[in-house]
Amino acid sequence: MSETRTGGFVTVAKAGEIPEGGIKVVRLGDQSLAIFKVDGSYHALEDVCTHDGGPLAEGTLEGHVIECPRHGARFDVRTGAVLSLPAMVPVPRYEVRVVGDDIQVAWS
Ligand code: FES
Repeated sequence: MSETRTGGFVTVAKAGEIPEGGIKVVRLGDQSLAIFKVDGSYHALEDVCTHDGGPLAEGTLEGHVIECPRHGARFDVRTGAVLSLPAMVPVPRYEVRVVGDDIQVAWS
């Protein structure tokens, strides 16, 4: 979908597009973001593993934990925090809000 910017937030998806436990990859500028829905809340991380650039959205999501498909590092999708090696650096996260039916990501 096309980007709609309001007050530093960009609409990246409609609420119905991402099921519970689902992931959607969106492209903003030259970056890929992974949008996760867990326990009814949306979370956004850069879709790039900090270990060696693996595509996190292609990994396995269990609860709040995404496992990188490349070498198995695990991150908390709520914070981007590293939960297990071989990654050692958190994944950048982005603030998410829902306005009406729009899922929006903080983007400047
Ligand atoms: S690239 Fe993600 S664990 Fe290595």
